[in-house]
Amino acid sequence: MELTENIMEKMVKQCRKPTGIFGRLMARGMNYGHKVAGWGLNHVSVNKDHTILDVGCGGGKTVNTLAKMAAEGKVYGIDYSEDSVAVASKVNKKFIDSGRVEIFHASVESLPFPDNFFDLVTAVETYYFWPSLIDNLIELRRVLKEGGSVVLINEVYRHEMFEKRNTKWARLGDFTYHLPEEFRKFLGDAGYSSITVDVLEDKNWIVACGVKE
Ligand SMILES: C[S@@+](CC[C@H](N)C(=O)[O-])C[C@H]1O[C@@H](n2cnc3c(N)ncnc32)[C@H](O)[C@@H]1O
Repeated sequence: MELTENIMEKMVKQCRKPTGIFGRLMARGMNYGHKVAGWGLNHVSVNKDHTILDVGCGGGKTVNTLAKMAAEGKVYGIDYSEDSVAVASKVNKKFIDSGRVEIFHASVESLPFPDNFFDLVTAVETYYFWPSLIDNLIELRRVLKEGGSVVLINEVYRHEMFEKRNTKWARLGDFTYHLPEEFRKFLGDAGYSSITVDVLEDKNWIVACGVKE
């Protein structure tokens, strides 16, 4: 029992910041495991010519999907884990070589991009780990164009049906998660408008979008 918990703790900690060989394997694993990304991306419009940022890009699967969707645009990924950056760069090598994708080592706290640069910012399974949620959402708002959207896509939100599992994960990984109405509140507090929140209750999935107006 304790052994299982130790392994689970290691895995959840790697989700926070993939590190070393095990971290790289986890980042690759998440590329296959995070089906929530496809569901979440159906909630936003991605135009062919969009400039898009994927924050906490991990192994780079969402960057890859977005580069295919925005076939005449450009997709940037950032992650504060050097190992995530390495995996995402390998996974997206063809797009990087053709100039359609760039991956940067950076934290959501301070993005290496000018103001009003992106049409869309996506964040899949990562906001739980950010150091200062409202400030970090404000930083994302800075790099969005007027009319651009942020979308947070997650496999965990606060709901009684999943509370036992989620409390354990959050304790092991030292992360925070929220109720649907709290998503509305913190996106509003960070200055976003036209906020929408949708859930897939039986899977405990949530997608929250806000627009910079
Ligand atoms: C659970 S993984 C999700 C990766 C990817 N988005 C996916 O869905 O497979 C979380 C990722 O967020 C990154 N991350 C956590 N805090 C971050 C921060 N402050 N700035 C940038 N990336 C961060 C981690 O390094 C990790 O790669």
